[in-house]
Amino acid sequence: MIKTSFYKQLTILAVSFVLSSTIVITALAQATVLPYKNKSLPIEQRIKDLLKRMTLEEKILQTNQWTYGKNANENNIEASKKAVRPEIGSLIYRSISPVYRNDIMRKAINESRLGIPILMGFDVIHGYRTVYPIPLAQACSFNTELVTQACAVAAKESRLSGVDWTFSPMIDVARDARWGRVSEGYGEDTYTNSMFSVASVKGYQGKSLSDPYSIAACLKHYIGYSLSEGGRDYRYADVSAQTLWETFMPPYEAGVKAGAATLMSGFNDISGIPASANPYTLTDILKKRWKHDGFVVSDWGSVINLIPQGFAKDNKEATLKSFMAGVEMDMVDNVYVENLEQLVKENKIPIAKIDEAVRRILRIKFRLGLFDKPYVEELSEKDRYYQPESMAIAARLAEESMVLLKNKQHALPVSKDVKNIALIGPLAKNKVDLMGSWEGQGIADVVETIYEGFEKEYKGKANILYAKGCDFDGINEADFEAALAVAQQSDVVVLCMGEMKKWSGENASRSTIALPAIQERLVSYLKKSGKPIVLLLSSGRPVELGKLDTLSDAILEIWQPGIAGGSSVAGLVSGRLNPSGKLAITFPLTTGQIPTYYNMRQSARPKLGGYQDISSEPKYWFGHGLSYTTFSYDSVKISSKTIKKNQKLTAQINITNTGNMDGKETVMWFISDPVASITRPMKELKFFEKKTLKVGEKMTFKFEIDPMRDLSFPDANGNRVLESGDFYISINNQKIKFELVD
Ligand code: NOJ
Repeated sequence: MIKTSFYKQLTILAVSFVLSSTIVITALAQATVLPYKNKSLPIEQRIKDLLKRMTLEEKILQTNQWTYGKNANENNIEASKKAVRPEIGSLIYRSISPVYRNDIMRKAINESRLGIPILMGFDVIHGYRTVYPIPLAQACSFNTELVTQACAVAAKESRLSGVDWTFSPMIDVARDARWGRVSEGYGEDTYTNSMFSVASVKGYQGKSLSDPYSIAACLKHYIGYSLSEGGRDYRYADVSAQTLWETFMPPYEAGVKAGAATLMSGFNDISGIPASANPYTLTDILKKRWKHDGFVVSDWGSVINLIPQGFAKDNKEATLKSFMAGVEMDMVDNVYVENLEQLVKENKIPIAKIDEAVRRILRIKFRLGLFDKPYVEELSEKDRYYQPESMAIAARLAEESMVLLKNKQHALPVSKDVKNIALIGPLAKNKVDLMGSWEGQGIADVVETIYEGFEKEYKGKANILYAKGCDFDGINEADFEAALAVAQQSDVVVLCMGEMKKWSGENASRSTIALPAIQERLVSYLKKSGKPIVLLLSSGRPVELGKLDTLSDAILEIWQPGIAGGSSVAGLVSGRLNPSGKLAITFPLTTGQIPTYYNMRQSARPKLGGYQDISSEPKYWFGHGLSYTTFSYDSVKISSKTIKKNQKLTAQINITNTGNMDGKETVMWFISDPVASITRPMKELKFFEKKTLKVGEKMTFKFEIDPMRDLSFPDANGNRVLESGDFYISINNQKIKFELVD
């Protein structure tokens, strides 16, 4: 008895000794953890502590971005690693290897005095390895939820490959299809760009930047880049203050409000002040008015480009102007690193300004959790890419982004009884061009061709007969005859043609948006077969269709649909799927009609002033897109004919699927303000919604009008002006008047 209690007491004593010493050790350890390394402290406190410890040189290195990992392999990686300063702020990470990423990160953490992690960026524009349709195509899906999902997959694949930051989304409203970068954005409309700006930021950044698979987004190219004169890249952009606020700023404001961590400043001028050295847009608006607390990275070389632009005489002046205007990180120029210290010494740049820039960069690193978890999992490629759910999103997004432009006598879907299908054209067995420009780390080998999609779709049902017919360009007609023979043996001719991927994207503008003549010649030739002609058009921009339009019975714009486009195309042609894309950009009739966009302002003489040689109407308007089913729209009902400025108005409409196939309809609600104190666009999209309607199903679509949001316009300073008077809601072919009163 006595013995037991003695041992019990001894045990209690031992346990309490161990416990108390553990508490003491933990407390001691905590006291020795530097505040900036202490996870439990608020981020701002950690930044403050870290900044206090940094030398001027270490601070300046945070503003520097260089590239790393291109063609990296075990033989050359050590040499590349040696060249990187461990204190560097950021790298454009071009390898897909998490091992190399961890390796270079280890250098930063272990070999720099303060162990600040490097931020790894990359152009993840429409997918990382699993390549999705180009952004212009994504916009035509009008499915923001699906785009969010696609961006989330891209984020996960990126993070698992060592990338923490994407230079995306591009939200430059683009109305000149000659400009190659029209493929990278969400089309001609401001509201559509704003919605996809938010959708992609949500997808990349998730609920929080600190989530394990979130990456930081970068809104680009702030701002006005798409106005590059004549569609030529990198040129002067003249934009009035009114247009800047009305057309270009809203997608950026929406993205900033959605929490976008960073922005990229453009190459272009904005009416004489380059976008990468513009204190008004970069500081007054972005940082002061919108309170953005992340940072701005320059575009590739856009700081030194101030010299050819005639805005700075040398690197030092370029540094001074960009940095002072509000560009915190210098992409690959190295001029910040070379000049900032001297500029501080000369009192041209206050140290507080350096601190503020570094604070912003560190903030994003802290938010991403890089200080607490700098290394990434080292999974195999098989575990990182092409997961079944990612592939399913790729296929669905491809399907929903394709737009049925024309369907004469229901040429599509192809009849179930066909026995032989001619698949002709330079794109039928092509993989590379289906990816589109900026394909991230996509690999052409993995892309499903249209031919493969058709083989799968029609297995055991119909024969797919192939002929190339012609190249994308050139004058070689040698294969025309073989193509005609294939057409003659078939029930229908499906032509796969359009643009090569290198014809759009950066520095890839075209003087004409027409396709090379050889393609039209092939279609004319095949017309001799007398078979129905279905054109599958793949392009990175709207194209001038010319005779291709009249020669084809049906045209499906498939854009550059990415890795899983083949089966989506085949499914749409066979009728297993129903097209639901609508144009997010107008197809001009000819190149000379550029710019043509749906929300132009009214002409002073509406019936006059077009061209003498062609119609003023474009070929296909923004919002155009056919379905295999029909939707009937009831009359719109509005909750009131008159509302006050602080009231809301609800418009609603019942829509029924009256055809014989389930389908998705995107309803677009436009507002027009016919008379105001400044002229207004003829109409502006204010809301869209896409829903699936089964055969015979009726659904109600609603739009709640908030006067300040939907009826006001910005003035030249960006302040919203709300004027009473008459307004119109338009949807489909209906136009309903209501009045806003004081
Ligand atoms: C230049 C492009 O304009 C920009 O969009 C891209 O993010 C950078 N290069 C980095 O590759």
